[in-house]
Amino acid sequence: MEKYFLETNHLTKTFGKQVVVDDVSIKVKIHTVYGLLGPNGAGKSTLLKMLTGLLRPTKGEIIINGHPWSRKDLKDIGALIESPALYGNLTAHENLLVHAKLLRLPESRIQEVLHLVGLENTGKKKASQLSFGMKQRLGIAKALLNHPKLLILDEPTNGLDPLGIQDLRKLIKSFTENGITVILSSHILSEVKQLADYIGIIQNGKLRYEGKIDESQDLEKLFVDVVNE
Ligand SMILES: Nc1ncnc2c1ncn2[C@@H]1O[C@H](COP(=O)(O)OP(=O)(O)O)[C@@H](O)[C@H]1O
Ligand SMILES: [Mg+2]
Repeated sequence: MEKYFLETNHLTKTFGKQVVVDDVSIKVKIHTVYGLLGPNGAGKSTLLKMLTGLLRPTKGEIIINGHPWSRKDLKDIGALIESPALYGNLTAHENLLVHAKLLRLPESRIQEVLHLVGLENTGKKKASQLSFGMKQRLGIAKALLNHPKLLILDEPTNGLDPLGIQDLRKLIKSFTENGITVILSSHILSEVKQLADYIGIIQNGKLRYEGKIDESQDLEKLFVDVVNE
């Protein structure tokens, strides 16, 4: 039997009259990378925000590791939604220290996560002086602080160059090998293709396709077919 770390059942979110996430049921297999693909405004961030408790679903349910989602599950979830909220005048270490203290984690954890994302040598550099890719990685380090079992990354490749995307791919693969399940979103097909094991295509709030992706597949054609259907 397949084991899913995360499932949504008929998940729906409306803002006023607008149905932004519309009856979405996804299944995310444990220790894989699930890529949520869809154009701007499709409802990706809204869906991810419901998974992190930033928004309350209007209808439907979220199942984490076999049980209905509750706030307690946040201890197992790490998230980077939209761009990382960093203190520009603090160093990478200091930024993480703020969160480690809030989460009551030992200070030693900071060096561990900085090492995981390859930022252990930024020293006295302030966050505002880091490159875009480094800021993203610091955001991911922050999401990793609490040893999450589920990592949620909203458009993590946004603004990264091809090399940065390759690095991120390696980094994300290393997470799944270490027991983390990842769900990420992107509006760029080629990026999801490089990062994800499974994809879900979302358009106008609806899940239009879900499946495993492999090298042989013409994802461009699939995407165009699904979106034009
Ligand atoms: N807090 C909100 N209030 C009202 N409308 C919202 C809110 N958040 C998002 N929306 C709308 O929901 C739709 C989907 O947004 P979003 O989930 O951010 O899409 P995506 O992340 O796929 O680009 C958009 O039309 C957006 O304007
Ligand atoms: Mg978004």
